[in-house]
Amino acid sequence: MNFSFRDQLPSKLKTSISPRDGYSGIEKPKAFLDFVEEKSEALLYLSQKHIVSAKQFDKELVIQLCRLAASYEIHPTLFHRPLQGKILISAFYEPSTRTRLSFESAWHRLGGDIMSITDRSTTGIAKGESLEDVGEMFNNYGDVVVLRDNQDDSVYRMIETLRIPIINAGNGVDEHPTQALADIYAILKWQPNLINDDLPDSKKIKIGIIGTPSRMRTVRSLLILLSYFASSISEVVIINSDDKSLDDVQLKDINLSKLKVSHSKSLSKVIQELDVIYINSIAWVGESFEVLTGDIRLSKNLKLKKNSIILHPLARGEELDINLDNSDHNWYFAQARGAVFLRMALLTCLVQRTNLVTDLPDQNLNKNPNSREIN
Ligand code: CP
Repeated sequence: MNFSFRDQLPSKLKTSISPRDGYSGIEKPKAFLDFVEEKSEALLYLSQKHIVSAKQFDKELVIQLCRLAASYEIHPTLFHRPLQGKILISAFYEPSTRTRLSFESAWHRLGGDIMSITDRSTTGIAKGESLEDVGEMFNNYGDVVVLRDNQDDSVYRMIETLRIPIINAGNGVDEHPTQALADIYAILKWQPNLINDDLPDSKKIKIGIIGTPSRMRTVRSLLILLSYFASSISEVVIINSDDKSLDDVQLKDINLSKLKVSHSKSLSKVIQELDVIYINSIAWVGESFEVLTGDIRLSKNLKLKKNSIILHPLARGEELDINLDNSDHNWYFAQARGAVFLRMALLTCLVQRTNLVTDLPDQNLNKNPNSREIN
């Protein structure tokens, strides 16, 4: 018998890897795809658009984008490299694991090429170059820019000179629209019937958001998108020890929408009523971050409602116990995984390649090839 060290290895190295059902299987995206009628025309709105705020979307657009994401999730390689020949400029001037790598994974999976900046000190910004001038240069190098920056206004400054679409991948404490789209994608896969306008009261869901919406860009964008699905949500409860966790703009937006929003200082008082618990802890401020969930800790030991799901944009801190990872409440890993497919869908629509993955006609036909449509 041949000599081997295998018996001495830890079990993780001895057993074959098997993806966990639920968050990596295709049943959920398939069920969602089957439930939603295709109305791809809605996706045309995204063609050659800058994506900065969740306010640029509406309910039908979110649903159709999620539908396209589901078809990518079911058949990641069905469509033949629709972004072949296109270049993504991935500019991350603030740390990121998920957003940068999922955007880059999405673009690679679609057959495009990538140029990546992960540190502003390696660019002319370190020598005092303005963001407007950097934007002007980006026009010559790529077809789409994805920008993360710790300042709220950076993305708006680049837009001044950009003639290619830019996607806001998190601007200070303002917005993170593609994270919120990924959040909604997870929620709709969990319960596709939430797309219905006339859901009976008994089927409506109650959502708890643990965090500080005025300081958290993911929550700010999520509240906007949730307002489009207000008819399926009985209530959103903001769980926070602070009395004033919504800013004036958010209060005004909530008043304009039909979303019913309340506030609770105690998680234990409401936890048994919550169908979805969205927890976030971090707010990025300047070159560092604040942890804003106080002493709230979500764990399997709490009285979670049966069949409820937990979402978290991650990175995880102490607020989310790892003892939830192997429970059915864990939808945060599915949420992060789905972000790749959601971003694949968004990127395809932005660069006018929707015709390669849907029944829509080619938008570039009968167009002046030198003209660009940026609104
Ligand atoms: N969700 C999110 O924005 O994570 P990253 O900071 O890792 O990109």
